Amino acid sequence: MLQPGAHNPHLAPVRITDVSPRDGLQNESAFVPTARKIALINALSRTGVAEIEAGSFVSPTAIPQLADSDEVFRAIERIPGVTYSALVPNERGLERARAAAVNKIAVFTAASDSFTRRNIKATVQESLIRFRPIVTGAKRDGMLVRGYVSTAVFCPYEGRIPPARVRDVMKRLLDLGVDDISLGETIGKASPSDIRALLDTVMSHVESVRLSLHFHDTYGMAVANALTAWWDYGITAFDCSAGGLGGCPYAPGASGNVATEDLVFALKASGASVPVDEMLVVACAQQLSDAVRHPLNSRLSQFLHLRKPQPALKG
Ligand code: HMG
Ligand code: MG
Repeated sequence: MLQPGAHNPHLAPVRITDVSPRDGLQNESAFVPTARKIALINALSRTGVAEIEAGSFVSPTAIPQLADSDEVFRAIERIPGVTYSALVPNERGLERARAAAVNKIAVFTAASDSFTRRNIKATVQESLIRFRPIVTGAKRDGMLVRGYVSTAVFCPYEGRIPPARVRDVMKRLLDLGVDDISLGETIGKASPSDIRALLDTVMSHVESVRLSLHFHDTYGMAVANALTAWWDYGITAFDCSAGGLGGCPYAPGASGNVATEDLVFALKASGASVPVDEMLVVACAQQLSDAVRHPLNSRLSQFLHLRKPQPALKG
């Protein structure tokens, strides 16, 4: 029988990127005040996560919820060892990231034109042309660069996406010089067998240490997908969001990212080494829930909240 992480002989610690300040807040109908965003990022910085996607330098017309990312980056406390990253769609975004002293930017495209057109007003091919000077400029300034490939299994407009298309876009991003790749399961519908088909196709074209998986959790499969990727393929980098908040306004129907606290709990329970304190993440999720004024989707947070002493019922 295989041991946990059998394909990863060094049992490398899992690297968690918390995307709640970006993916989480971009999909909220209400604008979360800047001070709340800063407090959230400062609290996440102390949970043990390796990276925090702290904002987005996109058009404020496209994502008004994150129009204050410049201010957020200037005010957060930066803890040594934590990477603070942000999305950048164009050269204007790169200028803003540079001015805000961002450690790492992420360019983002997809494996389907229909989604990419709606999301960044370009085809996949046009987006890759647009990214060349951005990647070069960011690297010249000493920033790290991530490349996202969204719709890595399903597109909300085109349906199932062949893994070979994802592989081809990923290879083009690597050719541009990005440091790492994140494959986005944008609509949260994939099952472990879909993830196996994807990883069987892409993994001979990227070093596993440069690959992150970004699962949304619409159908409740994200933890199973991540465990499959870790156990069977030795993937040790995952994006997730405190409280399971998240979603893209250009991917209708998609729900939040897998909750950081749920994924950390599941990985640790399966034998992985994860240097994140899930109880501190639960506290961040509570902070987020207060900020967005609705309950969140995390199993662990809900369970712990339910266990808290409840006010006595009257009557
Ligand atoms: P466009 O309208 O074609 O841009 O949008 P434009 O260059 O024509 O400019 C239009 C206006 O926007 C101009 O202002 C620009 O200055 C301004 P005006 O002259 O009209 O006053 N503008 C900007 N302002 C500030 N910063 C900027 C910027 N760019 C333009 N960077 C564009 C094209 C790509 C800019 C737009 O479509 C955009 O920003 N899209 C981003 C959409 C987005 O953020 N989607 C969510 C993130 S992706 C995601 O969630 C998936 C992921 O989580 C993985 C997964 O789950 O699969 C990553
Ligand atoms: Mg996402």
